[in-house]
Amino acid sequence: MFETRVLSGMRPTGALHLGHYHGVLKNWVRLQSEYPCLFFVADWHALTTDYEKPGALQEVGADMVVDWLASGVDPNQATLFVQSLVPEHAELNLLLSMIVPLGWLERVPTYKDQQEKLADKDLSTYGFLGYPLLQAADILIYRSRYVPVGEDQVPHIEFTRELARRFNHLYGREPGYQDKAKAAVKKMGSKKARLFNELRTRFLESGDAEALKRAQALLDEQQNLPRGERERLYGWLEGTGRKILVEPDVLLTEASKLTGLDGQKMSKSYNNAIALRDEPEAVSRKIRTMPTDPARVRRSDPGNPDKCPVWPLHLVYSDAERRQWVRQGCTTAGIGCLECKQPVIESVLGELAPMRERAQAYLDDPTLVKNILADGCDKARKLAEETMREVREAMGLSYL
Ligand code: TRP
Ligand code: SF4
Repeated sequence: MFETRVLSGMRPTGALHLGHYHGVLKNWVRLQSEYPCLFFVADWHALTTDYEKPGALQEVGADMVVDWLASGVDPNQATLFVQSLVPEHAELNLLLSMIVPLGWLERVPTYKDQQEKLADKDLSTYGFLGYPLLQAADILIYRSRYVPVGEDQVPHIEFTRELARRFNHLYGREPGYQDKAKAAVKKMGSKKARLFNELRTRFLESGDAEALKRAQALLDEQQNLPRGERERLYGWLEGTGRKILVEPDVLLTEASKLTGLDGQKMSKSYNNAIALRDEPEAVSRKIRTMPTDPARVRRSDPGNPDKCPVWPLHLVYSDAERRQWVRQGCTTAGIGCLECKQPVIESVLGELAPMRERAQAYLDDPTLVKNILADGCDKARKLAEETMREVREAMGLSYL
């Protein structure tokens, strides 16, 4: 249905680290060759929790994009842009705010969770309550099909789906809807039209999911039908109004196995992270000074990898043979901790070296990143405008 667009956003929070790479960015790099992808700097989202210290959002944002590019996100494949440079997100946010029940926002689990967790921040603002709505606008404005996010964001995508349904229900039933749908089916040619009608009946009467899929596939092929008519038919097929907004699905991003230097989740705020652009000396030092199994006080004490924060690094960076060498050597005190860490240091340095190199080109010439974002914003705005034109029309706001 439509183009299978993938969209994801990231708040600008400062230098990205290996946890981001193994969790999110590697995934983006894979997706960009499989789907048309849109990735954006969620700068307005940063303000929903940190309006008091906006810092230099534009610098942090551009710097984050350097980290994306360093990780292999390719501006020739994916569209990279900045949320605040596509003000249509705000317009859709406003229009959706008219129809979103307050209870839906208050029920989003992150609302209460975050207020409790981030007790030092003032989160009793309209912006913070509305943050899932802004996220829904980000997603719906591109008619995104898939949204790669972590577990914590799943309720936001579910919220987005419900909102899209509500919108289509309210505004997708134009006058003469039935007749218009029937006329559009005829344009498919008599054979396909008959098949389409048959499949539709099968789905509506017996909930045959296979029939629905086949009918959708049939519509996907009808590139000669104008988009508005196809939208109408996607909705009509399922017995609903015209599908102006598309319900997205989650592409669940598995949490990275990589933990921080202290064995907790890797996070800048825990001060246990290896940043993607850390100097090689800093990387080596951080790993060399990592704590190990506390039971291994002396070199001659045997240890247990399961109690050591270095082990998760081996799980990411070492093959079976090397892991066996670690287990064997650790539990028999056959190897020392520095010896055990050395291959990890080399693997991490090997992984980061090409990133540093790619990043350097962008640091040497900051106009490169500016141009990438300017291009990306242009492309994103065109797509956003397409949706907004239909949203405005559906809500009775197309004056000119
Ligand atoms: N809320 C996401 C986060 O905090 C970031 C985000 C904003 C996002 N808009 C989005 C993610 C749209 C996916 C799609 O991580
Ligand atoms: Fe940890 Fe390796 Fe030392 Fe064992 S040998 S305690 S796994 S660093």
